[in-house]
Amino acid sequence: MNKIGIFTSGGDSPGMNACIRAVVRTAVFHGVEVVGIQRGYNGLVEADFVLLESHSVANIIQRGGTILKSARSTSFLTSEGRKKAFENMKKANIEGIIAIGGDGTFTGASVFNLEYSIPFIGVPGTIDNDLFGTDSTIGYDTALNTVIEAVDKIRDTASSHNRLFFIEVMGKDAGFIALRSGIATGAEAVLVPETKTFIDQLTAKLEQGRRKSKSSGIVIVAEGDDEGGAYEIAAKVKQKFDFYDTRVVVLGHIQRGGSPSARDRVLASQLGNAAVEKLLKGESNKMVGMVNNEITLTDFDKAIKHTKELNPSLVSLVEVLSI
Ligand code: F6P
Repeated sequence: MNKIGIFTSGGDSPGMNACIRAVVRTAVFHGVEVVGIQRGYNGLVEADFVLLESHSVANIIQRGGTILKSARSTSFLTSEGRKKAFENMKKANIEGIIAIGGDGTFTGASVFNLEYSIPFIGVPGTIDNDLFGTDSTIGYDTALNTVIEAVDKIRDTASSHNRLFFIEVMGKDAGFIALRSGIATGAEAVLVPETKTFIDQLTAKLEQGRRKSKSSGIVIVAEGDDEGGAYEIAAKVKQKFDFYDTRVVVLGHIQRGGSPSARDRVLASQLGNAAVEKLLKGESNKMVGMVNNEITLTDFDKAIKHTKELNPSLVSLVEVLSI
């Protein structure tokens, strides 16, 4: 291959820039040109291309967000949109693509590959960590650290006022952020989409804490919990147990921004590098990942459809340590 394209798509995540840098520098190292495709699949449909040289990616490893911008494209969902994308690629001599994103990104790549045989390698970039085939996605560690910093601050004020806080974190289908941040902040309870929530059990747990003279309570709620978001769950608990003065905090998009952590910068650099190597070796329709410190390749189909399970020992750890 002489020229490859790269884009970021879906929700952005800290470390995407570090990954773009690794892709560009690795490609240049191999004498391959890189075209930056702006705003995800939209840039492919609209030929919004920019040539990326080694110096174009200087001084971005530490920056959150993505210099290529990101979007959830609607035009690429149509067959006319994909036809345009293919024609634009051919005109620009782009022979293969590296796509950084999550399940929506890889679904689009699979369809495009099926229709036009375009070689694609995916890199997992999402704070949700909900992709099968990698222990961690790019951005997950930074998001966790952001959550932990915020919850620690909330704990300070919660214990000064003897309050109970329901803190909502991102994760519409997955509880990875909720579970790990819950352990790291000593939360009284963690509610995740993967397991059924029982309000009575939660209330009993909080009552038990009160009997043990706990001066505050923190309940971490993943936004996709089956009993609702933090506001709804707080209201349901309050009907049955209103000993504590209750507050709700939704952390929202602060979880998606910020300078990437050391772990995310290194992971993004390794995966970006591996993505180029694999694409140049003729691999396609696969996501690069890191499992037990080894680079792996997983078919897009598997990465999207196989559910990555929450670690059951971490789920029971919350129970034990929050007594
Ligand atoms: O990046 C993934 C994610 O953070 C989900 O956890 C969340 O539900 C969603 O993105 C929100 O994204 P947006 O505001 O871009 O729709």
